[in-house]
Amino acid sequence: MNAVIRAVVLTARRRHRDELLGFLDGWRGAIDDVSVPLDEVRCRDILAIGGTILGTSRTNPFGFEGGAEKVVKTLERNDVDAIIAIGGEDTLGVANRLAELGVRAVGIPKTIDNDLSETEFTFGFDTAVQIATDAIDRLRTTAESHHRVIVCEVMGRHAGWIAAYSGIAGGAAEILVPEIPFDVDSVCTGLRDRHAGGQFSSIVVVSEGAIPAVGPDAEAARRATATDAVDAFGHARLGGIGDWLAREIELRTGFEARTTILGHVQRGGSPTARDRVLATRFGSEAVAAVHDGAFGMMVALRDGQIVRVPIADAVRTPKTLDLDLVEIASALTG
Ligand code: F6P
Repeated sequence: MNAVIRAVVLTARRRHRDELLGFLDGWRGAIDDVSVPLDEVRCRDILAIGGTILGTSRTNPFGFEGGAEKVVKTLERNDVDAIIAIGGEDTLGVANRLAELGVRAVGIPKTIDNDLSETEFTFGFDTAVQIATDAIDRLRTTAESHHRVIVCEVMGRHAGWIAAYSGIAGGAAEILVPEIPFDVDSVCTGLRDRHAGGQFSSIVVVSEGAIPAVGPDAEAARRATATDAVDAFGHARLGGIGDWLAREIELRTGFEARTTILGHVQRGGSPTARDRVLATRFGSEAVAAVHDGAFGMMVALRDGQIVRVPIADAVRTPKTLDLDLVEIASALTG
């Protein structure tokens, strides 16, 4: 986020002499009219620092009476000509609805989940994949030394992008993604076959949103991972499938199994060079889009080029995993 904030601020100020405000904590700042001026000094030395100097929150202005109107009022009060919204389907879904109300908004796609349509990649994804891959490499040490199965649970919500990329990069024995409900017995058979073939350790990468195919396992997994917690956009808090799966693997195969849930580790630390560059390209193009009056548009990556697409198209349906990747992985796993 900091890389894109820096790119927007420096480009807008140097190319166009724009004045910039950063709303604190995402839409909450826009509702409550809490912002800070953004200039070169504020953006100094933030490129390599993960997270966001502006803070963030899961706030939905359309989730309560009068929220969107408050945002519109805030923008009027501050003489805001245009707003650049940075985020995934929730943040940009709000930007899209505000644009329908006449707010001049441009979107930038950011989520580690890479599940936003119309763009090949969102920034944040590459960093999360690198962290998960590093973790898998490290987990292999214990898996090999102790002849264990280690289940590594990664984020991604209902898309298996992080699991597929890190699982392929980390040479996982099994990669389980939300797009393809899995069969626990087949996973166990795969692990037994590996052992029979002389490989006594295995890494299983499971996406937090992966679930067993319908049947008793699906029900048991649901019970083990169910939570009432939902965010302002109605998303359930995921996590826990890795623990359940490791227990089942140990019970059914007799192989010692452990779980590591990477969780927010995947969202922390310094962004990769690729993410910094992508964020910078997106930020620069978003400023150009504002000055071209391309409102209601999101900057996106297509065939290596930065293009503009309607925000409405990007948020219509989440981008699920490219199943070719699963096909490639299936030949290598097991
Ligand atoms: O959307 C990004 C993401 O990191 C998901 O992968 C994950 O399910 C969710 O956010 C976690 O949200 P929170 O930080 O609110 O627990």
